[in-house]
Order: sequence, then structure tokens, then C-alpha cells
Amino acid sequence: MEYQLIDGKATAYAIKQKIAEEVKEILSKGGKQPHLAAVLVGHDGGSETYVKNKVIACEQCGFKSTLIRFEENVTEEELLACVDQLNNDNDVDGFIVQLPLPKHIDEQKIIMAIDYRKDVDGFHPINVGRMVIGLPCFISATPLGILTLLNYYNISTSGKKCVILGRSNIVGKPMAQLMMQKHLGDATVTVCHSHSKTLKEECRAADIIIAAIGVPNFVTKDMVKKGAIVIDVGTTRVPDSTAKKGFKLTGDVKFDEVAPLCSYITPVPGGVGPMTICSLMKNTLSAGKKEYYK
Ligand code: GUN
Repeated sequence: MEYQLIDGKATAYAIKQKIAEEVKEILSKGGKQPHLAAVLVGHDGGSETYVKNKVIACEQCGFKSTLIRFEENVTEEELLACVDQLNNDNDVDGFIVQLPLPKHIDEQKIIMAIDYRKDVDGFHPINVGRMVIGLPCFISATPLGILTLLNYYNISTSGKKCVILGRSNIVGKPMAQLMMQKHLGDATVTVCHSHSKTLKEECRAADIIIAAIGVPNFVTKDMVKKGAIVIDVGTTRVPDSTAKKGFKLTGDVKFDEVAPLCSYITPVPGGVGPMTICSLMKNTLSAGKKEYYK
């Protein structure tokens, strides 16, 4: 049986168009234009690209966006002052501080300083906690994007065995929570990580594999059962002299050999990546409408 490619780029485009229509309607009724601010520290290539794409997505959705840049040597105090300013800026509906931050800055301290009502990344413990117990909140963009994608393709996950590779705060942990929740994934969830002894066996038994470990081509054909649904969150820049940019964005799944076994699979690039940004736009729209918090 032919596998079906899950087109994240096209799905994200369609959703952003719907958001743009809603923004037009809000504006026509005299409402406020949603405004996302992004804080970028240093010049990491990946982070630069992500933030640039977030700014472009804001334009596509009809949002206002503000980019605030700091050099690598910014102090924690300076960053905290910036967060405080954004918390108190009534025009800013939501904002993100792009991660990772330089080693001399305590990432968790910065996240904790963000007003949870503007935390459109869903990283603040209040949003994480509310997500876990199923209360309205901002949900981390990558897991939300994956749920949206599964939903968009009418892929039923209820009762299925879902294996998540990776336990990061941004992807693995929230993904596991959402996949097991009754009115969301409703699946039987197993989380595997770098110290899991039975990782291959767990994968082989999985109906759904969500790979978020950041190891290029980690998931091979011997780890995937026939008919599985495979979601690839990996986006490692692997040096490639034949590529225009000098690298090739490489997923956690060895696509060429795994795809023929799958019922559905996401490509890299063009799968989960565009959906992550699209989810940030959804969260920003919700923030603008004060949908979760007054
Ligand atoms: N770094 C990698 N992914 C993300 C994300 O979703 N949000 C932020 N702020 N930083 C990231």
C-alpha cells in the first residue's frame, strides 16, 4: 500500500489563511490587531531562521510583530527587564523568548518571569500545569501543531499505541500529555529516551511514532511496523557541500527506507516545522482575543 505524505506546509498555509480572515473580521469590527513580540538573543543560525519565519507568518496572518534583539553577552537582568516591559506593554498580546539562551542565562528564570497570559509558547509552569489537567491554556507550539496535523488528516489516535521518542520540556513531555488525554490523543502512550533499554521493541509495537530526539536518521526500517503513522520532529542541520546553504535539514527518521512501511508519514522539511509556527499564530490569535485569560 502506498503511504500518504502529511503535508505540513500546505496545512499550515490553509490555517494561516483562516486566521488572516478572522483578523480582517476583527479589524472590520474595530477590534485590536493581534501583536506578537519575539526576543532573539545572539546569532544562532537555527534561531535566526525560526524567528524570521515567525515574523513572516505574522505578516501572513495580518498580525503586528515586533522583533527585539540582544547580543550574546546580554545579562540576565537586561533580559528580565525586557520581559517585564513586554509583560506591561498593553499593545503586546503575546511574546516569546527564542530558546536556547546563552549558558550564562537561566532559561527557566526567564520563562518564569513571562506573564502566563502572554506566554504564547506555553512554556510557563501555569500553562504547562493547566495543559496537564485539561484546562484552557496556551499549548506548546510543536505538540499543538502535531495534534492539528493529525486532526486535519482525520487520523484517529484513540486507543492506539503511541511511542514518543524524546522527553524535552518543549516537545516530548507535552506531546505525551496531549496524546494520552481523553478528548485529545486518547492513546496509550510510551515515552522513550536516551536511556530506554527497550526503545527498538517499543517502536516496533507502535501504531504511532513521534520522533523528537534530534538525532538524524535515528528511526530505521527495522523499528517500524507495517501501517504505522510516523511523525518526524527532527530538524538537525547536517553539513552538505552540495546544498546551497551548506547544510541539509535532516529529520530523526530515515525517510527513504521507513516511508514505504507507513500509512502516513511527515517529511522534513515541510512536515512538522511549518505547523509549529502556525500553532504559534493560533496561540497569538487566542491571546489577542483574550480567549483563555482576561
Ligand atoms: N526553540 C526551539 N523551539 C522553540 C519554540 O517553540 N519556542 C521558543 N521560544 N524557542 C524555541
